[in-house]
Amino acid sequence: MTRAVIAGSGAHIPPIRITNGMLATIMETSDEWIRERSGVEVRQWVERGTSTLALSIPAARQAIESAGLTPSDIDMVVYATMTPDYYMPGNGCLLQAALGLRSVPCFDIRQQCSGFVYGLQLADAHVRSGLAKHVLLVGAEVHSAFMPFGEASWARLAGAVDTPIPQHEWDFNTQNRHLEVLFGDGAAAVVVQAFDGEGRGVLDHLIGADGTDFNRLYIPGAGTRNRPYIDQALLDRNEQWPQMDGRYVFKMATTKMAEAAQQILARNGVRPDDLSLVLMHQANRRINEYVQKLLGLPDSKVIHNIQKYGNTTAATIPLLWDEASRAGRIAPGDLVLTVAFGAGMSWGANLMRA
Ligand code: UT7
Repeated sequence: MTRAVIAGSGAHIPPIRITNGMLATIMETSDEWIRERSGVEVRQWVERGTSTLALSIPAARQAIESAGLTPSDIDMVVYATMTPDYYMPGNGCLLQAALGLRSVPCFDIRQQCSGFVYGLQLADAHVRSGLAKHVLLVGAEVHSAFMPFGEASWARLAGAVDTPIPQHEWDFNTQNRHLEVLFGDGAAAVVVQAFDGEGRGVLDHLIGADGTDFNRLYIPGAGTRNRPYIDQALLDRNEQWPQMDGRYVFKMATTKMAEAAQQILARNGVRPDDLSLVLMHQANRRINEYVQKLLGLPDSKVIHNIQKYGNTTAATIPLLWDEASRAGRIAPGDLVLTVAFGAGMSWGANLMRA
């Protein structure tokens, strides 16, 4: 029976290191609060002008190479991002052109932090049904573009000035601090390919969504509700920036990630002890520690990257995969579980033998 395996991976982390202390120079926050409440110690942001597509190109090239393939072998692209280069078209087609792929189908998916988990389900379905042999699955984000900072704040972060920022910038940054401290930029990619042997392959997926409370984590503008879809009034209302009810999202993420993990394990007859590694979306270390405890997993089976990258949304799980496999922590046949929760609200888990 043909199954899908992850045959190669790649990652690209941007160069600008933003510490919690640096953020504390432009808003009312502290290193201590951010570490304790979220687990983030530092995040990496792109240089101004570097887009999500640009960040993902080296990651995708590396994934193709590490799978022992060339770009001409890829016969489908799935691109997960909530921070695309353009409102339309999506980044999938842009990546196809940038890599010089054949005129293969390109899907763009927008499940935010669940993007990789959803994307793997889509890639797996195409591989298993014989519609594709080599799927390039990408998760990439440039969240720094969604930081609502003024010019003085950017200059202070860049170290260009060391004088205090204007009060109105300080106040606005502080109003949005629960979001600004969490997110980082990053890109990662995997190649999902057909495998006809024994003992390896993606086993199951459990993905779900509930749009009832979508506006607990969303960007109100710009969209077709408005006419024109973007205007000065919208900008004056600050509707171009993300908005989040942190406590609500925290609670729902904890519940849904735990449920998804428990259900996918139970229906496959897998005990937490059988797992070699669990790759959880990294929105808040406390969410993941709760899920880890509930499943009774030792620290050796759970890896984190929130401390050094922050929440990189769709890039998080493939970044974890890439680092773990390069460090020799994923061997062929190992049972690996991925779990995620994101805006939508959306959630999911994948279970595979690596
Ligand atoms: O990937 C999916 C997307 N996102 C998530 O999953 C995020 C889920 N939510 C969270 O991770 C947490 O809710 C946050 C980290 C966003 C916030 O942590 P919290 O412990 O839930 O804090 P809170 O929102 O209940 O706020 C507690 C206090 C408030 O002050 P007051 O009203 O008690 O005076 C906040 O204003 O903490 C304050 N606060 C901060 N203080 C210093 C919020 N953000 C910050 C900050 N620095 N960065």
